[in-house]
Amino acid sequence: MCEEQGTMTTPLDFFSYRSGILSAEEVPLTRIADDVGTPTYVYSTEGFLAPLRELQAGLAGLDSLICFAVKSNSNLAVLKLLSDAGAGMDLVSGGELFRAQRAGVPSHRIVFSGVGKSPGEMAQALEAGIFSFNVESVPELEVLNEVAIKMGLRAPVALRFNPDVDAKTHPYISTGLKKNKFGLERKEILAVAAGLHGYEGIELRGISIHIGSQLLSLKPLDDAFSRVRTLMKELEPVLPEPLQFVDLGGGVGIRYDDEKPPRLKDYCKLIHKHFGARARLKHPLKILIEPGRTLSGNSGVLLTEMMYRKKRGKKDFVVVDAGMNDLIRPALYGSWHSIVPVEERHRKSRQMRTSDIVGPVCESSDCFASDRPLAAELETGELLAVLSSGAYGFSMSSNYNTRARPAEVLVQGASFRVIRERETYEDLIRGENP
Ligand code: LLP
Repeated sequence: MCEEQGTMTTPLDFFSYRSGILSAEEVPLTRIADDVGTPTYVYSTEGFLAPLRELQAGLAGLDSLICFAVKSNSNLAVLKLLSDAGAGMDLVSGGELFRAQRAGVPSHRIVFSGVGKSPGEMAQALEAGIFSFNVESVPELEVLNEVAIKMGLRAPVALRFNPDVDAKTHPYISTGLKKNKFGLERKEILAVAAGLHGYEGIELRGISIHIGSQLLSLKPLDDAFSRVRTLMKELEPVLPEPLQFVDLGGGVGIRYDDEKPPRLKDYCKLIHKHFGARARLKHPLKILIEPGRTLSGNSGVLLTEMMYRKKRGKKDFVVVDAGMNDLIRPALYGSWHSIVPVEERHRKSRQMRTSDIVGPVCESSDCFASDRPLAAELETGELLAVLSSGAYGFSMSSNYNTRARPAEVLVQGASFRVIRERETYEDLIRGENP
């Protein structure tokens, strides 16, 4: 899948130029645009499965469960694909649980994260019989305890530890620092453990962490894993039963541009180092991870059509038919996505114009890329692909400006199918009462 064995995913691992046309696996994107229209999210099946297989191979020898972070891409077909390949799911809402159930994900492979689970969502997940609630505060634990007692059940719980480690990523997606809203402090966890007999509806089974997303170095994870081990040692004498599992949170970063994210096999090695046979743990632990972007990021592109070129002195505005409502990452985080013409000949153009690639939404932040060189001959009707859009693309889309959200297409080999229809105007007003 990549230029060297056992590496990270890169934007063009699963999309390549075939006979001069950018293709998802073996399907030219021009064919998808003709059949389905634009803007459309296009995913490669192999894009999801190859990194999953790599993680499964890297964790071989451990009792492990890879729970896909549903928030990164929650299409039912994607969830089913990954579940059929052995993945579990990491959820953050009752809506995501509903999706996972519809996709046929076995409940014993589901974990429920998030700082604000409602009593209704707790009951829904208890009813379903999920593997674990990753609890983030003492008040949340108290509510879960009450809900479980009322239902005559015990809730399986991992306490989410905030290890106070700087993940060195974008501040909006950094979660493991004391100043972040996530997780419990060491002292709180020790206090809960000591008073566990007071929680009849809770079965404490594990510790979880998640320090941030798009991690470009293993160092913060190394530190966080050490801190988890120390905490688990401190907990041992306090707990009536040994802990059964540790949930190590989201995956590592991917390449959008020329970043050098950790290689998946090195990430797995780090897990082995801390929790595998060599770590000589007193009790063997099941290992959970919750990768989102690692599995979905480079499996998708946003296919869009150029509408207008607005010529300006030093640079042009290239207006495309996708907007910030379809893909909000550049506007929200200033994130960088590679944008390429679907016809390869335009990549090699002799005449490049510095361009801002912008959408139709009435906000200046509706800009996918600034000051990019783009072929001057690109005109109305040409197709462009916004690469690395499989994670936090469609799942963060909205109907802002009353724009129908894009279709989603899944490619496998030489065939493709629409896994989400383009929204219609009727979809846009569903449930409204004039
Ligand atoms: N587990 C938990 C508890 C999380 O909060 C997250 C992501 C993940 C797992 C998955 O992390 P990943 O493997 O994808 O790095 N919208 C942002 C990313 C937000 C991440 C939120 N939490 C973006 O577009 O970059």
